[in-house]
Amino acid sequence: MDLSTKYLGLDLASPLVASASPLTLDVGNIRALEDHGAGAVVLPSIFEEQIELEAEELEHRMEWGSDSFAEALSYFPPSDAYRSGSQRYLETIRQARAAVAIPIIASLNGITDSGWLDYARDIQEAGASALELNIYTVAADPGQDAGAIERRYVDILRLVRAVVKIPVAMKLSPYFSAPAAMLRTLEAEGAAGFVLFNRFYQPDIDLGTLRLRRDLALSTPAEIRLPLLWIALMAGRTRASLAASTGVESADEVIKYLLAGADVVMTTSSLLRHGVRHMRTLHDGMTGWFAARDTTLAAMRGKMSLRRVKDPTAFERANYIRILQSWR
Ligand SMILES: Cc1cc2nc3c(=O)[nH]c(=O)nc-3n(C[C@H](O)[C@H](O)[C@H](O)COP(=O)(O)O)c2cc1C
Repeated sequence: MDLSTKYLGLDLASPLVASASPLTLDVGNIRALEDHGAGAVVLPSIFEEQIELEAEELEHRMEWGSDSFAEALSYFPPSDAYRSGSQRYLETIRQARAAVAIPIIASLNGITDSGWLDYARDIQEAGASALELNIYTVAADPGQDAGAIERRYVDILRLVRAVVKIPVAMKLSPYFSAPAAMLRTLEAEGAAGFVLFNRFYQPDIDLGTLRLRRDLALSTPAEIRLPLLWIALMAGRTRASLAASTGVESADEVIKYLLAGADVVMTTSSLLRHGVRHMRTLHDGMTGWFAARDTTLAAMRGKMSLRRVKDPTAFERANYIRILQSWR
């Protein structure tokens, strides 16, 4: 069955993509994901603050050691040879590129302008096929208005685009006042695609210990509705690629996202829950669904998007009133 897909201008053999998580930092897992039908993988984000912290800790340890015992220096290799976090990451990109044929998409979460620039450049040099920008901010500062936050997204994209030639995807938060306008602005700045959406982690309160609980709960299929709506609203209305992300557990969610118009469908939680072989279950479930209806991915993609659905009011305000009034 022809599942070929274009994403960020790259040719993919399948619309299934393993999204950023520690799972994809392992080349063995990347190989298995390719074998089980993934069209591409996204590596976990390289976090500027983590790398800087590691570098500071290393420096501190080396200084402490050299002050205390001359021979302590021999415990550590010279700093330029030290395989710091960022070098390990870049090495993974190189190894993954050599090991598989599918595109390797790197992900970056910077803080400073120079962080975004330097790591983006290094990631391209290491051979990544594309770069996803993971801009994870909680807009908690009352002094920072929506315009300032939106400008920061644009500035980061501009910065990165000025130093890399590989396609750049923006992994976005759903919390914009006007997501459609935000996508248009970022597209005009050269975003090759959008990952809708990043999943934000909110702490809970433990009533026993009166402490914040920062556990990481995996997603459930109930969470597909927000990204599904926005994929359906934007499909065919942007030249940039659309990646649907959040809530995929079975082939059902994959098919819904494709019907809404996603170019690719990403999953992390299902792979963490069931292992990398689950990619095969998603792949076979999806192809089985198309085969049972004697149809193809190309024929079905976007069939339920705002532009092509028979009753577009389902996506609009008129339906809001009807839904509220239909509750029994
Ligand atoms: C353990 C774990 C680690 C993650 N690490 C990253 C990361 O490094 N960068 C990133 O952009 N997203 C990261 N994510 C978010 C996922 O890529 C994805 O956006 C999110 O889990 C929603 O998709 P899902 O419902 O398929 O899990 C991580 C998620 C999990 C569960």
